[in-house]
Amino acid sequence: MNVALKPFPLVDLKAQYQGIKPEVDAAIQRVMESQQFILGPEVESLETEIAAYSQAKFGIACASGSDALLLALMALEVGPGDEIITTPFTFVATGGAIARLRARPVFVDIDSDTYNIDPLKIQAAINAKTKAIIPVHLFGMAADMDAIMRIADAKGIAVIEDAAQAIGAQYAGKRVGSIGLCGCFSFFPSKNLGGAGDGGMLTTNDSALADKLRVLRTHGSRTKYDYELLGMNSRLDALQAAILRVKLKHLDSWSEGRRRKADRYSHLFKNYELGDMVKLPTLHPKCDHIYNQYVVRVAKRNALKAHLQNNGVPSEIYYPSPLHLERAFRYLGYKPGDLPESEAASKEVLAIPIFPEMTDDKQNLVVESIAAFYSR
Ligand SMILES: Cc1ncc(COP(=O)(O)O)c(C=O)c1O
Repeated sequence: MNVALKPFPLVDLKAQYQGIKPEVDAAIQRVMESQQFILGPEVESLETEIAAYSQAKFGIACASGSDALLLALMALEVGPGDEIITTPFTFVATGGAIARLRARPVFVDIDSDTYNIDPLKIQAAINAKTKAIIPVHLFGMAADMDAIMRIADAKGIAVIEDAAQAIGAQYAGKRVGSIGLCGCFSFFPSKNLGGAGDGGMLTTNDSALADKLRVLRTHGSRTKYDYELLGMNSRLDALQAAILRVKLKHLDSWSEGRRRKADRYSHLFKNYELGDMVKLPTLHPKCDHIYNQYVVRVAKRNALKAHLQNNGVPSEIYYPSPLHLERAFRYLGYKPGDLPESEAASKEVLAIPIFPEMTDDKQNLVVESIAAFYSR
């Protein structure tokens, strides 16, 4: 490693905390004084604020983004015999929620430019068993929701948005989580809006669905010891809610900061003649981007990753294997070559550091290190 350089992380949460420390510390203190730790007023306020932020009528907090997906499917009474269409190029939780309910994930290949599910390929995957479609707004940019909603509405199929990586992102002027039947968000610490631990949220405009989700997340009960449904324990802590409420006030400026870094990456990369070696993220014409990840598509990806590591530059692969080829989903019977765009992307994508507090020096170093690799 180049010893002159201090290694830095893909996202610097310590720098973020330093910027908001007094506000966060006061929020934690407030909850400690209240001694109200699970659900309660802090969580209710966060639900209202996230719903408003996402342009949806209702917010239902839960323990994680993974649980949000599970709860959405449980509310739709998804089970054995049902099929759910989704993308294989996502975090395992998307497919896992479907499989845990013993329904069948039906993986549809991605668009090679946006990495999101390709709406043109959805129609052929629909049959009488199809109960829902879960598009994932990958890396912080919405899937092609007009096309997806047109197909789903024509067939009466529910759309659950996996918005775990995309809070605040817009599609045709609408915020994610307000377009389909419901939206599922994650507050995993490295998300644009991240807690101090796990946390999640569902958004919806459907009051009956909101009511059912609230019952499902508290063991299926509305009042103590009266269980009307088989639910689960998936509640958000007041400490998380209080911290997230502080951070939500900064979210737009942080996402704007990420967009500025992304623009700067584009300018910096243009200064080098890297040709086809490095493909920058593609912005869909109806979308903006919150850049939860800045993902480039590169030649000789694994060698580049090793080279960057030697230069003190962090990078990550999201995702090294599409879900249809993961061991846990082998029982579905997919084989290599079935979903070629996802398989090609998983061999070529690389996430490079992006966070609002990132200095120009560090960004220059990332781009210079990449350019140096290809000029060897
Ligand atoms: C696309 C996607 N879906 C679901 C999840 C699950 O969220 P959580 O980690 O909060 O359970 C994540 C989290 O990384 C994600 O990126």
